Amino acid sequence: MTQSTTGSTQDEVHAKKRRCAQAALHYVESGSVLGVGTGSTVGYFIEALATRPGLIRAAVSSSEATSALLRAAGIEVLDLNEVGTVHLYIDGADQANRARHLIKGGGGALTREKIVAAAAERFVCIIDDGKLAGALGAFPLPIEVIPMARALVTRAIEARGGRTVWRRGFVTDNGNQIIDVQGLAMCDPPALERELDAITGVVTVGLFALRPADLLLVGTEAGTETI
Ligand code: A5P
Repeated sequence: MTQSTTGSTQDEVHAKKRRCAQAALHYVESGSVLGVGTGSTVGYFIEALATRPGLIRAAVSSSEATSALLRAAGIEVLDLNEVGTVHLYIDGADQANRARHLIKGGGGALTREKIVAAAAERFVCIIDDGKLAGALGAFPLPIEVIPMARALVTRAIEARGGRTVWRRGFVTDNGNQIIDVQGLAMCDPPALERELDAITGVVTVGLFALRPADLLLVGTEAGTETI
């Protein structure tokens, strides 16, 4: 059986994802409009939500994939423009540190995720413990770019010491492209996010440090750790 970097088997990793997803249900207010992220951990959260019909009034979704899952679970999906402030946003991440800074966008949904997170009063992030690190950077940083600016942005990132890989063939829900970046110094994630955001042609940087998670629910072997 495949093993993760923490030594957990894939089955154990998924059990941890399921555990933190289940724990997130406690933060959901009855009758509210909930922001919902993207990914397999969120998939488990939607499964848990489906066992509580009528708990939420509706959802705001961060991707077409999540909208489909929510509708299949009988949950109405609203346009963020109709909703205004979202009380709570639940989403996964690809990596997190204990300051609750995140790397997101492994699934390519980073832009809508950042928008819903920005609209949310509270952001609860659900991850398995294999994603918690002392410092960010092991997971390549996804950057969504306007297609015609891909080479321009690539050169700007490489001039800063980053190594880039174009996620060839992948198109985001917004019709854009993604480059995955490694090798940038991540000792000050908010400063790096600000710097990369300023490159012309960048739509969204998958660093969530200027608006970090408010709470991290970390699925472990034994249960869920709250940070
Ligand atoms: C989607 O674009 C990402 O930001 C996800 O939140 C992230 O990739 C987590 O995915 P899993 O829950 O599938 O590990």
